[in-house]
Amino acid sequence: MKNIIVGQSGGPTAVINSSVVGVYEEAKKLGIEKVYGMVHGIEGFLNDNIIDLDSYLNDKDNIELLKRTPSAFLGSCRYKLPKIEGNEEVYEKIFKILDKHKIDALFYIGGNDSMDTIKMLSDYAKEHNKSQKFMGIPKTIDNDLPITDHCPGYGSAAKYIATSLKEIIRDNASFGVVKPTICIVEIMGRHAGWLTAAASLAKDDTCEGVDAIYLPEVDFDLDKFVSKVKDLASKKSSVVIAVSEGIKTSDGKFVCELNSSDRKLDAFGHKQLSGCASTLANIIANKTGLKTRAIEFSTLQRAATHLASLTDIKEAIMVGKRAVKEAVKGNTGMMVTIKRKNGKYSSTTDIYDIHNIANIEKKIPIEWIDIKNNQLKKEYIEYAKPLINGELLPIFKDGLPVHLIRK
Ligand code: F6P
Repeated sequence: MKNIIVGQSGGPTAVINSSVVGVYEEAKKLGIEKVYGMVHGIEGFLNDNIIDLDSYLNDKDNIELLKRTPSAFLGSCRYKLPKIEGNEEVYEKIFKILDKHKIDALFYIGGNDSMDTIKMLSDYAKEHNKSQKFMGIPKTIDNDLPITDHCPGYGSAAKYIATSLKEIIRDNASFGVVKPTICIVEIMGRHAGWLTAAASLAKDDTCEGVDAIYLPEVDFDLDKFVSKVKDLASKKSSVVIAVSEGIKTSDGKFVCELNSSDRKLDAFGHKQLSGCASTLANIIANKTGLKTRAIEFSTLQRAATHLASLTDIKEAIMVGKRAVKEAVKGNTGMMVTIKRKNGKYSSTTDIYDIHNIANIEKKIPIEWIDIKNNQLKKEYIEYAKPLINGELLPIFKDGLPVHLIRK
């Protein structure tokens, strides 16, 4: 194998750049000449926008900085390749650019929508007898890719959420002598509640934990929510509730749309979901007269590399390395998965057919949710806890973390 290329796609995570490190290091170890990076994923690649990663990563200090750099170092995109039939010119263009740079394998770091790109390109290559290999590398804070035990990016976002909630709970508890403040915290994750479930990890020896958690896996009932808040407010001097951005009522309406349904769609047909915490905080304020506060973690939860989980960083590197090894062996049209070993937490990797992964969302098993008490059961806690373990401290300069930036 002569040259390879790696791209990043979809919402960034705190460790998406660690997978670039894994790809780069393994490629160099295996004697691959050039490791290119797509600037802004496949969308940028269609404009031949690529860089030679040697100019950044042939330097141990930069590798260390990249592991500590948030967002997608190469730039990301939300771009859906069209169906092959009737759109052959798009695919011809991609393979022409691959040929021009003598690229033998393409690696795409992304979630379930982005894995569609690997599926389409490997299908086209097969139909047209092209020799290039295409491998998917998992990443998503949403943790909703099937087959893999969990997704790189999830553990770090979960660590940030649990840590921030511990801090919010302390802050909220500092007042409330007469009446409690109702604090509603909105967490990303679209249609799967994995990330919001991480709110349950805030409970430990020094924290009482959040009072209720609302996940998209369970229909949201506004009347029950209001009664629950009133009940909590009558018994407690501080109330903190975590809600997923994707909670919906039983008629399929997103809570964030209760005030307006005018939502923009991205290339994959996803609505931008945000604003359900402020919608609910307004409803509670009107119905109870209590002070409310809405907090939306928004991009903070996926950009918080300063609080990344070391376990997550190591696994993000591990999946990148495995993808390169497999492509060199001749595999294509596959995604690397993470397998949890039995006993004390440790993990290994495997590979799986991309056709059974792309565009499929994995939800939290319903039996892991304590629906009656709006909490998570021990099965979830045991699953998630090891993923947030360990830290890799930022490199500070003048009091601020230093990042590696593409010039
Ligand atoms: O898929 C990752 C994710 O962060 C989701 O949790 C969230 O709904 C979405 O991306 C937000 O997308 P954008 O940043 O494009 O608004």
